[in-house]
Amino acid sequence: MAKSDTVSLSVIKRLPRYYRFLGELLKSGVNRISSRELAQIMRLTASQIRQDLNCFGGFGQQGYGYNVSALHGEIGNILGLNLGVKTILIGAGNLGRTIATHMDFENKGFDLIGIFDKNSEVIGRRVRGLPIRDVSDLTAFCQQYRPKMAVLCIPKEAAQEIADLLVSLGIRGFWNFSHYDLAVNYDSIVVENVHLGDSLMTLSYRVKDLAEKEAAKEVEQK
Ligand code: NAI
Repeated sequence: MAKSDTVSLSVIKRLPRYYRFLGELLKSGVNRISSRELAQIMRLTASQIRQDLNCFGGFGQQGYGYNVSALHGEIGNILGLNLGVKTILIGAGNLGRTIATHMDFENKGFDLIGIFDKNSEVIGRRVRGLPIRDVSDLTAFCQQYRPKMAVLCIPKEAAQEIADLLVSLGIRGFWNFSHYDLAVNYDSIVVENVHLGDSLMTLSYRVKDLAEKEAAKEVEQK
């Protein structure tokens, strides 16, 4: 439980990484770890780790460090990974089918219950054991099953209209792949915009930067 209502988003964004590293430690049989050791593995500082975890009340014990299993469980609870939030996916094209097939929603706090598309050629096919439904059935489906989260894998031209409809049907969280900035229009919903291209462009800068530094070093050494 957070000590205050104002845990910063940057701390929240680090929690999945803690969860992942602690999960790996658990798998390799490590039961106890100091903040210094954890910091080393995660390439953070020990004080950063203590500060982050203090936002939720600590968890470590002076002279003992962290109990890996307990901390992993606590962070999972903080992230809400056992909530199974009912989720639908819109757009069962290449990306949507890949996400539906490969994302382990159930271990991340979500329960994928419906997949929708407008293309009659894909409607009726099954992905992850779920039938692809006609998007025109969205209203009836949402009224019956009350999903709270939507994954958008539709082109950006379609995103606004679908998002408006979904918000009116009770959707409160969007995992948005549609290259369209939904957060601009709504206050009462949360959006995670995912742009894989941004990550790739960041890598492009870093590769370029590395090459430039290496070239400069070579010139210096001559
Ligand atoms: P796709 O063309 O294979 O699939 C799009 C699907 O959306 C189609 O099946 C289409 O029938 C459906 N669709 C379109 N309008 C709809 C509507 N109003 N209601 C329901 N279904 C609708 O395209 P792909 O490759 O799956 O990409 C989907 C979107 O994701 C594209 O806009 C693409 O730019 C974007 N994208 C985003 C990435 C990211 O990192 N955010 C990475 C890759 C793609």
